[in-house]
Amino acid sequence: MTGRPAGRTAKIAVIAGDGIGPEVIEAAIPILDRAAAKHGFGLQWERLPYSADHYLRTKETLPDAAFHHLRDDVDAIFLGALGDPRLPGNEHARDILLGLRFKLDLYVNFRPVELLHPDLTPLRNPGTIDCVIFRENTEGQYLGRGRSSGDEHVAEEVNTGKGVERIVRAAFEWAKAHGKTRVTMSDKSNAIPTHRIWQETLQRIAREYPTITAEHRYVDALAMELVREPARFQVIVTNNLYGDILSDLGAGLVGGLGVAASANLHPGRRGGLFEPVHGSAPTIAGKGVANPAAAVLTGALMVEQLGHPDAARDLERAVREALTIGARTPDLGGKSTTREVASAIAARV
Ligand code: NAD
Ligand code: IPM
Ligand code: MN
Repeated sequence: MTGRPAGRTAKIAVIAGDGIGPEVIEAAIPILDRAAAKHGFGLQWERLPYSADHYLRTKETLPDAAFHHLRDDVDAIFLGALGDPRLPGNEHARDILLGLRFKLDLYVNFRPVELLHPDLTPLRNPGTIDCVIFRENTEGQYLGRGRSSGDEHVAEEVNTGKGVERIVRAAFEWAKAHGKTRVTMSDKSNAIPTHRIWQETLQRIAREYPTITAEHRYVDALAMELVREPARFQVIVTNNLYGDILSDLGAGLVGGLGVAASANLHPGRRGGLFEPVHGSAPTIAGKGVANPAAAVLTGALMVEQLGHPDAARDLERAVREALTIGARTPDLGGKSTTREVASAIAARV
């Protein structure tokens, strides 16, 4: 992705959200500050209240003025998680999380799947798991189009030529820039006729990248193969819904949601929305045991996008080292608290 010039103070809006969101975000912020100080830049945090609590109290999800502020005045948005058992329809998340993805046209949901320590995987001999999922982030079934009448509930899936082309191209561009040799596109064109657009687009775009092998997998087969042989995948590009599902599957291969980061981007534009892959984990919220690693790794993606790749590498290394010395929350089989893991990471930045 195109970074911004280094060397200034970046303004970051924080939407910590619900459940474990505030716990992991507040654990990550001092670590990111430490990396910034070490690498000679500043991060200025602005905490915004938008969450389930705020919505239940005020009936406000994300007001227009806040949206304009997020669009025009900040360098990036750092988001914890949105989701609350009191709001089973998730209407606040639709406006805040999905709303920001759509309205800021953040069409790339970039989700790395990387094994940071060999004993985090449930697989016996996985090899090097190091791939990235390019999840289309502005179309698909997520637009919520459709209708309900009588006994029929129709969910429409939108795949535009422009939308498919730009996510496929983003995957190839990233592969080329990072010396990758294979891009795997995944759809379900054997059952869903409109998925032909994904096949046609892959073939057309792939011709522009002769050094990269373009391949296709139906999403069911890809789910199987990812478990059997994850090391063969480098870059996966797919639609919004399949990308959502495959990114949790990918997280499961490398330690779970406690270590899975993501960045919502519009390549070539400043800013973006940075959030762990995980949700608000209501059953462990407030217990001080949420894994902050995903939020820290998400922060690494954010500082990289802000033009500080050295700080990003440093943060990733610090997380790896903390995992290696056994600073692990219960989701990774450890006994450490959120705060203890955060301190172990901070000490290694
Ligand atoms: P979840 O990601 O919240 O939790 C799934 C499982 O992973 C749970 O066992 C949870 O305890 C565990 N887990 C997740 N993150 C963890 C962490 N950092 N440390 C330790 N364990 C962790 O998914 P869910 O249970 O399906 O959803 C809960 C709520 O979160 C729902 O309202 C859902 O809509 C929402 N959600 C929000 C986001 C987001 O805001 N980006 C993402 C996914 C789910
Ligand atoms: C994610 C989440 C969201 C999604 C939900 C909360 C709407 O699962 O960011 O992966 O499906 O995109
Ligand atoms: Mn998800």
